[in-house]
Amino acid sequence: MDGAIRAMDLRRIKVNQEDFGLMSYDPGFTNTASTRSAITYIDGDAGILRYRGYPIEQLAAQSSYLETAYLVIFGELPSVGQLTKWEDDISRHTLLHTNIQNLIQTFRYNAHPMSVFISAVASLSTLYPDARRVTDPANRRLQVERMVAKAATIAAFTYRHNHGWPFNLPDDGLSFIGNFLKMMFRMTEVKYEPDPVLERALNVLFILHADHEQNCGTNAMRVIGSSQADPYSALAGAAAALYGPLHGAANEAVLRMLEEIGSPENVPAFIERVKKGEGERLMGFGHRVYKNYDPRCRIIKATAEEVFKVTGHNRLLDVALELERIALQDDYFVSRKLYPNVDFYSGLIYRAMKLPASMFTVMFAVPRTCGWVAHWLELLTDAEQKISRPRQIHTGPDVRDYVPMDLR
Ligand code: CMC
Repeated sequence: MDGAIRAMDLRRIKVNQEDFGLMSYDPGFTNTASTRSAITYIDGDAGILRYRGYPIEQLAAQSSYLETAYLVIFGELPSVGQLTKWEDDISRHTLLHTNIQNLIQTFRYNAHPMSVFISAVASLSTLYPDARRVTDPANRRLQVERMVAKAATIAAFTYRHNHGWPFNLPDDGLSFIGNFLKMMFRMTEVKYEPDPVLERALNVLFILHADHEQNCGTNAMRVIGSSQADPYSALAGAAAALYGPLHGAANEAVLRMLEEIGSPENVPAFIERVKKGEGERLMGFGHRVYKNYDPRCRIIKATAEEVFKVTGHNRLLDVALELERIALQDDYFVSRKLYPNVDFYSGLIYRAMKLPASMFTVMFAVPRTCGWVAHWLELLTDAEQKISRPRQIHTGPDVRDYVPMDLR
């Protein structure tokens, strides 16, 4: 059905009645659908990405992050009234309890902001024990609003803590993104005015990162959620999965790579080292599902150009452009269908906003929170879902007798 077989049907293939039946072996789930989902559609070969049917290009050009979050989470674009209420609900929940603020303050000044983010998100479950009532729809809605809102505040506070700067409390007079920029960057200004170009750029980046169907972080959210754990614990697990350099921390790795290369003339030698497997991969290239140009990358590249008009030219952009130019002509990358992914250019925009590389994954986690909660809701309302519990093929020793210490 739908181009798939039910893995349980394989079990009917047996050599005899006592046989367990045939099982499939799929490390990394490269050919296994774990769910039916109505949220995001990707055609990796054609370079297509749609949220609830809407092409990513149209949303990036016309929507706002909070409107897209509503669409991703609830399935339809909101009416004017629904959007106003949603924006009000979210802004009411941006405040962070002082316990969590104090918790963030206890971490060392140089703690990785992603580690702080994960810890602070997990600790929200201590404040909201009601979140364990995951079968109550009204309760779930309340937790969803809290998660989408507080992810931004926690992210901004991790940044402020790294710099030893006081936290800027949320400001309901600004848009979600404008408020986020203020919480991050306001110093002593009496009235902080977010730069409209940066505000729009961040809106676009947040829309592009809102969801990406069953990636590693989303899968973690679903696996933890499947045990009916509270959503903050599941969200912390999803963020922890995102933290790895093969997933959401690739944008941080891209920046470090571009800095290491230093200038465009060093690109050919770097590419040769990648091809020989000496050192790391070409970070920001390749994707499990896109075997074509990542559609988000095209939009980000255009956004980066807008941002650089405000922030000034970034020399690392020249290195990135040269890297992309050479890699897209090189048979090693062409034959393996390795194209730039969303992380290739996002780090350059964040660097232009003067954010340290360690903040890049946090900037990914804030908008991805809406995707994670959308999948959490879908999971809990899907009658077919069960607790996640994969099978294994045992490769350890067969039964053997315990050997007393003096005989080993
Ligand atoms: N640089 C050099 N070679 C690569 C790269 C790369 N970035 N990516 C894949 N390859 C090679 C790999 O060595 C393998 O070659 P061979 O067939 O000769 O062994 C072939 O391409 C297939 O790679 P794979 O590891 O089987 O592919 P995968 O689908 O398991 O991995 C990936 C996908 C994203 C983990 C991988 O492409 C990668 O490590 N890219 C760099 C990290 C990165 O940019 N990650 C961000 C992903 S996008 C954001 C997100 O969704 O999290």
